[in-house]
Amino acid sequence: MNAIAKLRPGYRPGYAHVREFYTSPDIYESDIRDYWNRSWIWVGHQSQLKKPGDFITFDYGPESVIIARDRDSGIGAFQNVCRHRGSRLCLEASGNTRVFSCPYHAWTYELTGQLRRAREMGEGFDPADYGLLSLHLRNFEGLLFVCAGDEPPEIDEGLRRLRPLVAPFDLGKTRIAHTATYPVPANWKLAIENYMECYHCGPAHLEFARSHSIKDPAHMNAGLVDKLEARSRAAGVPTGEVTRNDPGAATLFLRRYPLFEGYDTGSRTGAPLAPLLGGLSGFDGGATDMQIGILNNFLIYADHMIGYRFVPTALQETRIEVVWFVREDAEAGRDYDHGDLTWLWHATSLDDERIIRHNQQGVNSHHFVPGPLSEMEWGIAAFYDDYLSVSADQIR
Ligand code: FES
Ligand code: FE
Repeated sequence: MNAIAKLRPGYRPGYAHVREFYTSPDIYESDIRDYWNRSWIWVGHQSQLKKPGDFITFDYGPESVIIARDRDSGIGAFQNVCRHRGSRLCLEASGNTRVFSCPYHAWTYELTGQLRRAREMGEGFDPADYGLLSLHLRNFEGLLFVCAGDEPPEIDEGLRRLRPLVAPFDLGKTRIAHTATYPVPANWKLAIENYMECYHCGPAHLEFARSHSIKDPAHMNAGLVDKLEARSRAAGVPTGEVTRNDPGAATLFLRRYPLFEGYDTGSRTGAPLAPLLGGLSGFDGGATDMQIGILNNFLIYADHMIGYRFVPTALQETRIEVVWFVREDAEAGRDYDHGDLTWLWHATSLDDERIIRHNQQGVNSHHFVPGPLSEMEWGIAAFYDDYLSVSADQIR
């Protein structure tokens, strides 16, 4: 019986998880394996791969993937591990290349992952047997997701349901305006759990709480939602909802919620920050929470989008990565101010780094006894359900 199986008796639905969930090296290792193989992970955006030879890499725990645009066959995703003796193949975060050449013994791979050349391998060696191992890849409105396992969770039907609610933002025609990383000395699950609930938003996020009604359910029913409906309809912003939490399928969530009166977008003053996304005809004063797979979160305002991910680098080290997107033709200085655009989620991410760090410090105590979840922490319960289904073989 492994660590999670031993641990499960301590898990009470409706309560926080027990200490070992965030402190056990065995659970950490099985987490990485399970999530890498059995969930979809957001790795980048098509705007990073415009020309043939453009590539990005993305690391997840000890795993690493290369995503590259080939001359003819579009975008592919490959394990960043040489098929000779296993060296990390591509060492850069992004760039443009004709081939990938291993830094160890110079085996050389095409942009399609095929092995092109390996020296002195003798007769009977067939390069066709040693292409890079590929991963499943999906491109949803420009957002790229990979899954390394043979049987990825169902996602296509879910994306079909999401598409009409996302298409008007034309996210494929955005570009990255800024990326920031906030390293936090905490287990990745504490980082993602923090993102899954807004119970902490009032007490911990002064700036965010001024503009985002989600900080308190009472505000969500105070007529703001009806007003948003009307403004969204006028501005061409879709307002439907999607919730999917089925075992064996990628978790999906989408909902637009109102900002407080006077806020067109997530800005310091409430004023617009950047040109309207896609085909929108105006600001509706809302924000769309979108989750595609349990690990990948996006917040879409009328004029920009934020993407978040929580990347494990060690048992109690996580990189919170925040990515700001604007319309592809928007220019810094002319169409938006870089400092104004990034102000809110920089401040909010610094708050989150602090509270997650303190959370881990407390959970590391042997006297931590898991307490009950608030009604506002329903997202954490959904994460636990997903966790138990992704880790099902370990738990059975
Ligand atoms: Fe890559 Fe030897 S490990 S060429
Ligand atoms: Fe937060």
